[in-house]
Amino acid sequence: MFVNDCLNVNEKGHLTIGGCDTLELAKEFGTPLYVMDEDTIRNTCKSYVNSIKTHYDGKGLPMYASKALSCKALVQLADSENMGLDVVSGGEIYTAMKANFPPEKIQFHGNNKTEAELRMALDYNIGKIIVDNLYELELLNKIANEKNKVVKISMRIKPGIDAHTHNFIMTGQIDSKFGFALETGEAMAAVKESLKLSNVDLTELHCHIGSQIFDIDPFVKAAEVMMDFIGQIKRETGHLVTELNLGGGYGIKYTENDNPVPYDNYMAAVSKAVKAKAAENDIPVPFIYMEPGRSVVGEAGITLYTVGGRKEIPNIRTYVSVDGGMTDNIRYALYESEYTVVNAGKADQEPNEKVTVAGKCCESGDLIQKDAPVADVQVGDTLAVLSTGAYNYSMASNYNRNPRPAIVMVKDGKARLIVKRESYDDLVANDLDL
Ligand code: LLP
Repeated sequence: MFVNDCLNVNEKGHLTIGGCDTLELAKEFGTPLYVMDEDTIRNTCKSYVNSIKTHYDGKGLPMYASKALSCKALVQLADSENMGLDVVSGGEIYTAMKANFPPEKIQFHGNNKTEAELRMALDYNIGKIIVDNLYELELLNKIANEKNKVVKISMRIKPGIDAHTHNFIMTGQIDSKFGFALETGEAMAAVKESLKLSNVDLTELHCHIGSQIFDIDPFVKAAEVMMDFIGQIKRETGHLVTELNLGGGYGIKYTENDNPVPYDNYMAAVSKAVKAKAAENDIPVPFIYMEPGRSVVGEAGITLYTVGGRKEIPNIRTYVSVDGGMTDNIRYALYESEYTVVNAGKADQEPNEKVTVAGKCCESGDLIQKDAPVADVQVGDTLAVLSTGAYNYSMASNYNRNPRPAIVMVKDGKARLIVKRESYDDLVANDLDL
């Protein structure tokens, strides 16, 4: 009935997640509220780990891309499922360190890592720095030299693959702020430059072609292009890159129109391509990393809101206003992302009307979804927006001084807080008097 496996309907007709009644969750923890289903996240992590065992002799490590949802509990969960971690800022590194995540299993991304962040990464012995540009390469080498270290690096390569996704989340093409371009020779020049430097050790190449991608083909093509590049590096310089990071980007189900491929199918296809290209280029099969973010947490999460108003504009549309909005889910405003909305107390009823779910911010574009089919929405109802586990809390803001919602984790009918709701005191904590 729903797009997400962790959801069900109980005898009262209420939506449940992880065996918990969503109306009870709303009452106990307040709204807006993010709810994450622990089993769904764990099962997805296991499926990534297992697919590398099945298709690639276990010669790889899936790394949770923590930008999708970074908080201590999630990082700890990823660790307990034997995942590595992809971080993209000092804040994400700090969260991982506070969660006692093993630093050697972390890779640090970013197109403008600050000098302070690079120093921090080296001080914490973060496993690998994914170098984005030449300036960063030189700076990293200098800092490593100062600290008397040799740092393992990867290089972010733009493989020139069109990933068929929203323009704003497509990253592998030449016109992108991320990484070194292959076509122009920029990538090879950077590789050669890195080989001259004595405090960096290039062991890996990285690519990430975009996000919310459903086709297998672009992943296979990217893997092939990267393997050919590793072969070319070996032939031109004699240096063997032994690891390949293929990024994240696997699509999830937001609505009935989305048809994600089982993640195992990606690994099956990509493994085959990598092995074939290794033979063709006469190089060993590399150790593989992948960096799923959205697919690990996206479908596991929902957001609960309370309806505070209903406005019927004849012949135009019906607005229902909820107690959150673009502050906890910016994705409609940014990408016009589609979501499934469920009236949580009437989850056993078929949708009988279309409503536009609006947030409470002082901004016309503050919508969660336009013309969403739902069952008979009244003031006081609890609405659930599905598949909000990824890039919702992590992109949340305090616009209009709205406190960020809490996150609860549910499992076997029990719920526990993993991120507290922000208080008004939190909002003014950094303010100083005139
Ligand atoms: N690795 C790298 C280098 C990335 O840049 C990303 C996402 C990932 C892995 C994880 O990709 P995923 O598996 O989650 O698709 N805010 C946007 C998504 C931005 C994705 C940024 N990079 C959204 O809400 O759709």
